[in-house]
Amino acid sequence: MSFPIVVLISGSGSNLQALIDQSLQGQLNINICAVISNKADAYGLERAKAAGIPTHTLNHKSFDSREAFDAELQKLIDQYQPKLVVLAGFMRILTETFAQHYEGRMLNIHPSLLPKYKGLNTHQRAIDANEKEHGVSVHFVSPELDAGAVILQASTDITKEDTAESLASRIHAMEHIIYPLAVKWFSEDRLTFHDGKAFLDKNTLSESGILYNQALT
Ligand code: GRF
Repeated sequence: MSFPIVVLISGSGSNLQALIDQSLQGQLNINICAVISNKADAYGLERAKAAGIPTHTLNHKSFDSREAFDAELQKLIDQYQPKLVVLAGFMRILTETFAQHYEGRMLNIHPSLLPKYKGLNTHQRAIDANEKEHGVSVHFVSPELDAGAVILQASTDITKEDTAESLASRIHAMEHIIYPLAVKWFSEDRLTFHDGKAFLDKNTLSESGILYNQALT
């Protein structure tokens, strides 16, 4: 039986597409039960519809508070009884109640080598700080922004010619490899979470997770 997940998006949804593609190709044994966006014009909704996946838009602007939005979102997600919630470019700060409800069963992908560059504009900030390398991290979601246990990272050298756009494009390509891999591990019960820490095959992962180049599929 395939593994039920719900994906939350706000934009293009290229990471969602990577999950759809890998599941169609049989590399991932998941069932994307629903895709939920807080923005009606998110292109990812079109990708989901094209794949026959139910979609919902929940506009955060229609709610009086962050708490009210998150409570409704939680209700909607839980109707599908997913075993995993995947944040794929979902541009919302989450309430503690929401994050705690999905503790150990919600993943996010963040375009930096965490714990460096939490928050926005990560590519430009890495260039401005003269970093030699930059990358992307998949992590469990905790109430604190971009701070949960890291599972997988992939990195790339920053060259003199790099711009925020060129870095973003290289990093996006890496995202489409490491995010489905983390989802696969979770769906196979190889990736677990206990007491704030991530484990792969029962081994505690280091603070920076596994560097993709060294990762076994
Ligand atoms: C990615 O850069 C991801 O790291 C960040 O949001 C972006 C989503 O891209 N969290 P897409 O919508 O999946 O194309």
